[in-house]
Amino acid sequence: MKVIVTKNYEEMSRIAADMVAEEMKKKEEFVLGLATGDTPVGTYNGLIEKCKKGEIDFSKVHSVNLDEYYPITPDNDQSYRYFMNEKLFNHVNIDKANTFVPDGTAKDPDAFCKEYEAKIDELGGIDVQILGIGRNGHIGFNEPEAELYAYTHLTGLTQNTIEANARFFASEDEVPKQALTMGIKSVFKARRILILASGANKAEAIQKMLKDRISTDCPASLLCLHPDVTVICDEAAYSLV
Ligand code: F6R
Repeated sequence: MKVIVTKNYEEMSRIAADMVAEEMKKKEEFVLGLATGDTPVGTYNGLIEKCKKGEIDFSKVHSVNLDEYYPITPDNDQSYRYFMNEKLFNHVNIDKANTFVPDGTAKDPDAFCKEYEAKIDELGGIDVQILGIGRNGHIGFNEPEAELYAYTHLTGLTQNTIEANARFFASEDEVPKQALTMGIKSVFKARRILILASGANKAEAIQKMLKDRISTDCPASLLCLHPDVTVICDEAAYSLV
């Protein structure tokens, strides 16, 4: 894995946005893999700015999001669909019909997961996947477990993640306890992966991810098996390496 250590969140976001933009310029029908959470927001702002300046064009871009709470409706302001509309899609010239976020209202989640996986394949795979990392080393909602799923699936959230995400909800009880998420193999279908991390609360996860041991106890550690991963993290997140 290539590692870029930045001074702070702003520099991490600028470098990530530059890298995504450079990749987008190489290919009109680009497939962009997206994450939610605090970490990629600065990167999305950078992409919005570049789009407004006419440096990049989203008109033929398709996007695929990693995950969504389950159950949740898209108009719920805590849904990942709502987040993506607010933080990126409403501000660039992307056709929303070309934006895919797992459906938190799916009646048959297992059937939906199969369709979602097929959608990724139909798009020809993801060109660049943006990832964040959980404090416990999760990627998407692939939480530390003895066994990890390969493909898109319905999963339970760990207590650690429920607590981390409770800050967005009125109370911890309101955090949905399940999610639809791409699996490890779905993420590995991306030709290039950028994993971003900022802040001291990610330092242990980054240390585990980079320590040259692969364990399902730190799902992000599996990323070293992928041929094209760039870690962009700030000094605080890198401080234990
Ligand atoms: C979100 C996702 C999660 C986050 C992770 C870090 O779509 O897939 O794995 O990337 O929980 O979240 P933040 O960036 O809020 O620290």
